Amino acid sequence: MFKWFSHSEIERDVYSPDKSIRCHFTLKLGQIFYSVYKNEKQIIKPSRLGFLICGETPLMNDLKLIREQKRRHSETIEMLWGEDRYIPNNYSESAFYLSEDKEQKRIFTLRFRVFDNAVAFRYEIPPQPKFSQITIKDELTEFNIDLNSIAWKIPAYQPDRYEYNYEKTMVHQLQNSVHTPVTFKTPTGYYLAIHEAALYNYGSATIKLNQNNILKTDITPLSDGTKAHVMLPFQTPWRLIMVANSATELTTNRVMYALNEAPTEDFSWVKTLKFIGIWWAMYVGEWTWAPGERHGATTEHAKEYIDAAVRLGISGLLIEGWNEGWEGDWLENGRFNKFTITTSDFNLEEVARYAKNHKIEIVGHHETVGFVDNYENQLEEAYNYYATNGVHYIKTGYAGSMMMINGRREFHHCQLGVNHYQKTVQLAAKKHICLDIHEPIKGTGIERTWPNLLSREGARGQEYEGGALSPSHACFLPYTRLLAGGMDYTSGILDLTNSVKRMATTLARQLAYFITIYSGMQMAADRPYIYEERFPEEFQFIRDVPTNFEKTLPLAGEIGEYYIVARKDRDSNDWFIGGVSDEMGRRIHINLDFLEQGAVYKASIYADADHAHYRENPFAIIKQEKRVGCHDSLDLYMAPGGGFAIKLMRL
Ligand code: NOJ
Ligand code: CA
Repeated sequence: MFKWFSHSEIERDVYSPDKSIRCHFTLKLGQIFYSVYKNEKQIIKPSRLGFLICGETPLMNDLKLIREQKRRHSETIEMLWGEDRYIPNNYSESAFYLSEDKEQKRIFTLRFRVFDNAVAFRYEIPPQPKFSQITIKDELTEFNIDLNSIAWKIPAYQPDRYEYNYEKTMVHQLQNSVHTPVTFKTPTGYYLAIHEAALYNYGSATIKLNQNNILKTDITPLSDGTKAHVMLPFQTPWRLIMVANSATELTTNRVMYALNEAPTEDFSWVKTLKFIGIWWAMYVGEWTWAPGERHGATTEHAKEYIDAAVRLGISGLLIEGWNEGWEGDWLENGRFNKFTITTSDFNLEEVARYAKNHKIEIVGHHETVGFVDNYENQLEEAYNYYATNGVHYIKTGYAGSMMMINGRREFHHCQLGVNHYQKTVQLAAKKHICLDIHEPIKGTGIERTWPNLLSREGARGQEYEGGALSPSHACFLPYTRLLAGGMDYTSGILDLTNSVKRMATTLARQLAYFITIYSGMQMAADRPYIYEERFPEEFQFIRDVPTNFEKTLPLAGEIGEYYIVARKDRDSNDWFIGGVSDEMGRRIHINLDFLEQGAVYKASIYADADHAHYRENPFAIIKQEKRVGCHDSLDLYMAPGGGFAIKLMRL
């Protein structure tokens, strides 16, 4: 019998270097699909790819393959700072050059990279014979994952951006768009996370079930309803599917960084930082951001905090509420914020000089409230103002529910928002300034290229304590938000029972956060007098904990239930272990077999006492010291809402 094959019907397999992951690419009847297998079990069913372009026919039909290119890549990346110094970048790459068979003959490339623990692909659109810029109406990328998978997600397009509690649901119940990274467990028991890498000049990807009940990218729109206006050549961010055998394995998936480019400039000036701040005193009502009797950011308070930082052995001080714009309704008045004019009771030059004399880094603050137009008008001047005063760190903030860009209300995560954040990162790099961005664009690994972007917020942090955080929140983060990089969680609030902001944690757990939640700029967020007068012993751990690690080893955990992780310091032979638990108490057994053979360590342990409880008995802590080696193990208790922190100092 005669069987007719069109030359445009094609099937290809791309195997990961260890062959455990197979990405299957098909071109059938002019349309392209991919599917993914882990150990030959299908984890992503055939999923369509393509674009809708304004004023054009959809770019998804009548396609033919005109060229293919294969390549193997194997390298180890060294990161300047972070959770792991070395990151493998090993993949098999296949680039499929496609062209329309009919009419317009538009061309584009699909580039797949298959890693041992991930599949990534992106679209590359070269200049076309007839046009050099396009407006993207929709990206049609599907992730056809089993509808009976479990998803852990936060909702997209909400007024508080990424600041929501994580929820567990079945994929078939996902009604609205969710942010990426979003994490899944498949019915076959694998853990996946869908995310993106190297997000530049494009709307951020959220995902949503389409009318065929298939998860599809829902690129954050601009206010004109389109997804992005781009000049050609253009490449989309990498669509990234992380794959793991267990929830804990997922937490050290670093492919997102591998998909970003190496820096092109010298960033050896970038240093991670631990800092205190004129900050929590405002949250608990002792001080105010706005000028007045209880104004926080006065010259006098700043000097007192600098003295305290010196005594505490902390290198940095954040100062919020120092500039004009906080009076009255600051969320509304933010449109007029001034980033070079101080309040009358604050003298930046004097404070900066005092800080320099005491070898303390000032962390400056720019709260834009999302009024990007107002901020960009002052950007160069504002960064110069800090730079000339020797300020090398700035915390920025975009607390509004929408951004105001070019006079229009835009989502923080749309193309224009993405471009604004990028502008700040690049300008800061030029001035040798490091950033900690609150209400940020989510992390997509660009810190590899721009290491001066030391941290982001971008999830509910401790500012939501006092009712809106449950103990499970910090047990979700390592498996969800933190897949996108470090977070400024504002850890270390030890005054747990403050009546304004009651913490849903035990004391030991506040120390654990310094290990379980990585941040290149790590805040010790409570007021200095709390550390000095009430918790000098616990503060010893906060002082000692590094902000830059050589290696990270997740030891145990389940999504939303608990997480235990060990990290080795970058600058010494010391190890640190942290653990957090949800509302349940847990007894845990930790094997120390990762410690160096034959070496002896002094373990300083801060753990919940047996009767500790985040509500009833949050301060019940056991502090213990003992000598251990790699053949030893530790048995510890994590109370409901509790945790533990351990320093292992090599003797
Ligand atoms: C929200 C930020 O997350 C917080 O850290 C900051 O203090 C306030 N905005 C005010 O800028
Ligand atoms: Ca915030």
